[in-house]
Amino acid sequence: MLANLLKAMPKSTHPDLLVGFETSDDAGVFRLNSEQAIVQTVDFFPPIVDDPFWFGQIAAANALSDIYAMGGRPLTALNLVGFPASLPEWVLAEMIRGGTEKVIEAGAVIIGGHSIKDKELKYGLSVTGIVHPDRILTNAGAKVGDRLFLTKPIGTGIIATGIKRNMVGQQEIDQVIAQMATLNRLAAEACDGLAVTAMTDVTGFGLLGHASEMANGSGVTLELSAHAIPLLAEARRLASLGVLTGGAADTRSFLADQIHLTSSAAQSIADLLFDPQTSGGLLIAVADRDAAKLSAALAAKRLPSETIGSVVLRSTVSVVVS
Ligand code: CO
Ligand code: CO
Repeated sequence: MLANLLKAMPKSTHPDLLVGFETSDDAGVFRLNSEQAIVQTVDFFPPIVDDPFWFGQIAAANALSDIYAMGGRPLTALNLVGFPASLPEWVLAEMIRGGTEKVIEAGAVIIGGHSIKDKELKYGLSVTGIVHPDRILTNAGAKVGDRLFLTKPIGTGIIATGIKRNMVGQQEIDQVIAQMATLNRLAAEACDGLAVTAMTDVTGFGLLGHASEMANGSGVTLELSAHAIPLLAEARRLASLGVLTGGAADTRSFLADQIHLTSSAAQSIADLLFDPQTSGGLLIAVADRDAAKLSAALAAKRLPSETIGSVVLRSTVSVVVS
């Protein structure tokens, strides 16, 4: 919606603007000199878990993720807070503590922020990172023959819906919270020195939504194998009970003519393939010659390390799942 509105605005261009908002990429990139560019992103949302500390952790991991997804490293962050007068102050303190600890874990520093009174609690961060201008990773660089990896299992959206309906046990709640609070830092570091051609993080548009953006941006088709895609077990269980997020249904119908689900295995997990993720993993395209190295590097960091598919010549659809 905002994207369409922005298209009608006066063109804001600059010779050093390397990645703007036109390419549905994760963050903007602006060149400072031939060695350095800044990566900038902002994200905030209402609570997705009850515990304010963990909400802060997740909001920060999510905001930091777009820096990693561009191949950058985070440097500084600003807190953005909307706070209802009805809530006790300790909630605010715990939320900010969660966010601050996550930013510190990322090796970055909080340098300020802004808060307003708001009807509904909201929290997020604006993050600035740094990247070498020649090593920016967008969603537009995938090449035929590349291998694809996904660094976190999917299913956080459907589990959040299950939690609201009291269908999820505490152990599974803790597990999904820990995953959403996990930085994409290790996944990004696994790519260091390898021939990674394209990268994005899987968030609100679901695996197939973001895969589709990568395919369209790169002028290729992505071929995924359903059995190789990492899924949270609790998400599979909830899907089998018919739990579905509104977001997954919307994305599925929006992309209906761009996605082919060619096997019964693919069709049986379709709702999960479109499930909107909070603080999801990185979707990585890497040249075939470095695929085994990336797999080993991910495994060494205890991240999902099986290739989930490959990049093929552009066909009539953006993504095929078999
Ligand atoms: Co992103
Ligand atoms: Co974002």
